[in-house]
Amino acid sequence: MTMSHYVSDDQLTKTSLTQLIELAIKIKTEPQNYSTALAGKSVAMIFEKPSLRTHVSFDIGINKLGGHALYLGQQNGKLGARERISDVAKNLSCWADAIVARVFEHSAITELAEHSKVPVINALCDTYHPCQSLADFVTLAEHFDDLSKLKLAYVGDGNNVSNSLMLMAAILGTDFTLVCPEGHGPDAHILAKAQALAEENGSKLLLTSDVDAIGEQDAIYTDTWISMGDDTNVKDILAKFMPYQVNHQLMEKTGASVVMHCQPAHLEEEITTALFDSEMSVCFHQAENRMWAQNAVLVTLLG
Ligand code: NVA
Repeated sequence: MTMSHYVSDDQLTKTSLTQLIELAIKIKTEPQNYSTALAGKSVAMIFEKPSLRTHVSFDIGINKLGGHALYLGQQNGKLGARERISDVAKNLSCWADAIVARVFEHSAITELAEHSKVPVINALCDTYHPCQSLADFVTLAEHFDDLSKLKLAYVGDGNNVSNSLMLMAAILGTDFTLVCPEGHGPDAHILAKAQALAEENGSKLLLTSDVDAIGEQDAIYTDTWISMGDDTNVKDILAKFMPYQVNHQLMEKTGASVVMHCQPAHLEEEITTALFDSEMSVCFHQAENRMWAQNAVLVTLLG
C-alpha cells in the first residue's frame, strides 16, 4: 500500500483500510515477527494536548517494533508560536523518521505534512482521531464477523471521534447512525464527505437528533460531551445532553451487545458507570488495540 502520511480517515480506500485492520491483527497475533520492523528508527511525538492512551501506546508500541520514541510536550509552547510549524517539520525531518502529532487544529497537521520529509501521523486534532477509529474497527472486527453487515451507532457530541468513526464506517460499508443533540452534529463538510463515501461503498448513514429514531444496533459508541480545547462548562449543557446518555436502557432498546468509548470516560455523564464496567464494554480492548493499530500504521509507513 502506498501511503505517505496518516492524517485523516477520508484519505483511505476500502482496500488500504482493510489491509491496515488485517495488519494490526497480524502484529497483535505475532508480535515477535515485527520486533525489528523499526530498528534504528526514531519517531518524534508532538503533544499540544494531554494524553494517556495515545502517548503510552505509541511509546510502548514503537519500542515493541524495535524503534525509539521521543516525547515533545508543551514545554516549547503552542505549536507555531516559537517558530513556524513548517520549520518545526523541516527540523524534525533532519533527525526523525516519522512525526506523530496531537494538535488543536487540523491545519497544523496538514502544515506539518506539507513541509515534513518524513511521514506524519495524526494523533488527534479538532476534526479527526484516525488512530482511535482504526483501533475501534480492529476491535469491532474481533467481535463481529462481517463489518459490512454491522450496525454501529454513535450517541453524544459530534466531534473528532465521531467524525473519524463515521468516515471509516462509510468506507467499510458499516451502517452508521449518528445521534447528536440539535446543534452538536458534524460539520457540513465532514458529513458531505461521509455521505459520498457511504454512497460509494454501499453503507447506510443516518444523522438524527431523535434518540428514539436510533433503531436496532449491534454496537453503541459514545465519547465525552466536551472535548479538549472546548471551554464549555458541563453544567451548561447537562440538561440538553442527558437524554443522550448511553446506559443499560439504551442497550436494551437497541439490542446492542457491545458498548464502546475511546476514554477518558466521564462516568454518569455520557455513559453510566454500570455500563462502562459491564461485560458489554469493550473499552479496554479498544485501548489495547490503539497500540496494535498504530503499529500497523507505523509498519506501513516505515517498514
Ligand atoms: N473527543 C475527545 C477525545 C479524547 C481522546 C477530545 O478531543 O477531547
